[in-house]
Amino acid sequence: MVKSNKQFICQFCGTIHLKWSGKCEQCNQWNSLLEENTSKPSGPLSKSSGQKISFEFLNNDTLEYSRLKTSLNEMDRVFGGGLVPGSVTLIGGDPGIGKSTLLLQIVGKLSTLGEDCIYVSGEESLSQIKMRADRLGIKNSTIQFASVTNASDIAITIRSIKKRSILIIDSIQTMYLPQLDSAPGTVSQVRASTHELILAAKKTNSILILIGHVTKDGSIAGPRVLEHMVDTVLYFEGDNNFQFRILRSMKNRFGPTNEIGVFEMSNDGLKEVINPSELFLSDRQKNISGTAIFAGLEGTRPILIEVQALVTPSTLVSPRRTIVGWDIARLSMLCAVLESRCKIHLSNMDIYLNIAGGIKIFEPAADLAVAAAIISSIKNVPISYSSVFFGEVGLSGEIRKITQPELRIKEAKKLGFKNITLPTKQKVIIEENMSYNNITLLRDLVDLINNDI
Ligand code: TYD
Ligand code: MG
Repeated sequence: MVKSNKQFICQFCGTIHLKWSGKCEQCNQWNSLLEENTSKPSGPLSKSSGQKISFEFLNNDTLEYSRLKTSLNEMDRVFGGGLVPGSVTLIGGDPGIGKSTLLLQIVGKLSTLGEDCIYVSGEESLSQIKMRADRLGIKNSTIQFASVTNASDIAITIRSIKKRSILIIDSIQTMYLPQLDSAPGTVSQVRASTHELILAAKKTNSILILIGHVTKDGSIAGPRVLEHMVDTVLYFEGDNNFQFRILRSMKNRFGPTNEIGVFEMSNDGLKEVINPSELFLSDRQKNISGTAIFAGLEGTRPILIEVQALVTPSTLVSPRRTIVGWDIARLSMLCAVLESRCKIHLSNMDIYLNIAGGIKIFEPAADLAVAAAIISSIKNVPISYSSVFFGEVGLSGEIRKITQPELRIKEAKKLGFKNITLPTKQKVIIEENMSYNNITLLRDLVDLINNDI
């Protein structure tokens, strides 16, 4: 019997199915199975087709690498101090967030520094790219543009250059290898095209940056394997209604993860934001209940963020929990702790929680600031304008230590804050002209807010 090479691959999670069905059994996604031809090369993978490999030692001086600075500090920091030659980066983000703009600006900068830059767009025509370049004031004629989608052609071209270059692919979902039957954007095409481009880039020690589309739930479209194939995964986030955008490293083989770079979208491209805390606090109002300032840490950088809560009586059977920029499961946990340990009744209240400015917080250290905003809103007691909070809340209502308190306190002091509320167990170096409220239990926070901190 002839074995069929046809398989059905879930475009969402990459699971292989032998038969088509309307729903992927693995990830429960509907209508995500696509028929793909997975034929392997016919020749045997015999012992004779291999070659002996030679080994190197890590103390070999020729293996030294130097990072390439883009002269956009925010960008360099996210990369861990500049771009590493031979590295592959994947940048994902919602449509229209500014991925193409950011990368065009980067090649604009790098080309003025004398680097060979190639920008390949599979989405836009050359005239559209030119329009954008004009808008961004990129007049440097050394950047090479192409509007093609054949990954094989691109790989051959890169190999023929025989010199390090910076190669931007906008976007990887539009690329295809003519050798495969599947359509561009399918799992096998995306995977195979990426593989082909990576091989070509590594051969010439080039820097490859791939733009990736994201799915509705915010992960990069195509299989997660794409994230394993690259060295660095960055997400470009932000709300289209806000001017600022955040570039966040989710995976980085050459630097810290969760590092962020903050940019502001202007009429002539993205501008770096040097002090993001100032920007995130710029619209703060005095004497308003329901807001608290969280002294957070994104990667290696401290950042102050305003947490806003509005707690109102609910008319619904199951009250509303609307949340922007924080984790809904974490909010439910915090509400349960407030309810059972502090006797604050929230089960018949709607809670709206917003992290001002469109930034997303992932740190558990924000628990205390969120709790403070909720308590302040329900009691209608404004929190002092010069107070900041950090600390994780445990299920028994205890306040737990968090990492790097000194950095957070220094940032708060720099921006004129005078009072820090933090876990009792947290050992910190006391700064001059600052007061500290050490709290052990969440209940202490309620007393603190009642007593007008
Ligand atoms: P774009 O880079 O095309 O987004 P993506 O590649 O992520 O889809 O960005 C498009 C948006 O950015 C569009 O809404 C217009 C806006 N924009 C500016 O506000 N200023 C600019 O200088 C540029 C080039 C774009
Ligand atoms: Mg684009």
